[in-house]
Amino acid sequence: MPGLLITFEGNEGSGKTTLIRATAEALQRDYQISTVETREPGGLLLSEKIRDLLLHYPMNPWTELFLYEAARAEHLHQVLLPALKKNQWVLCDRFTDSTLAYQGAGRGLNWDQVKELNLLATQGLTPHLSVFLDIPPQLGLKNATEKNRFEEEKVGFHQKVRQGFLKSIRQEPQRWIQLKALSDSPQNMASGLIQTLKTRFPQSFRKKRSPTSPKKRSTRE
Ligand code: TMP
Repeated sequence: MPGLLITFEGNEGSGKTTLIRATAEALQRDYQISTVETREPGGLLLSEKIRDLLLHYPMNPWTELFLYEAARAEHLHQVLLPALKKNQWVLCDRFTDSTLAYQGAGRGLNWDQVKELNLLATQGLTPHLSVFLDIPPQLGLKNATEKNRFEEEKVGFHQKVRQGFLKSIRQEPQRWIQLKALSDSPQNMASGLIQTLKTRFPQSFRKKRSPTSPKKRSTRE
């Protein structure tokens, strides 16, 4: 798969969406990299409809899990795989690690079973890199604006969720980078992240024109 899948994870109110925006802007402006910003649950009409159910209707944790995976299966086929095939960089607001953290650690469903369902829904697609924006849950909840079933959960639930993310990181440390949420402006955090991406994926930055280098003339002109 030629593109890159970068996922952004963290508790509520950790600034994922703003960091994604700033990172996409910098990648496009400074490196002419074609990016797709998307989110889970959501990213396309059907999955956004499932998102509405998930965020606003009370349900059993297993139903919740299957709906997240259903939204994901559609998102995979309609958004993620086509973008990656076109060599685009996909910046995805939440992915499979959120399911482990929220449905596994938060709701208490079996971690390995959640992992298996993640694998089925993604057909084995795993992120090239995952960014964890760490925030104390109590503080994050103060920043969260969207009133939904998850934001209304008690702090104890969100602490378990944070522990779930930390467990994912312990299980696969090489896939992750951890950042302190809201520790700098989104633009500065994005440029720090891009430096890390350049170190981890130098090939993906090759052949891209640097912002200052002059345009080369084609010899066929
Ligand atoms: P968002 O507000 O970050 O867009 O995410 C919506 C909510 O859905 C958020 O509270 C986390 C939750 N969620 C899960 O519980 N499991 C999942 O697999 C995903 C992707 C999100």
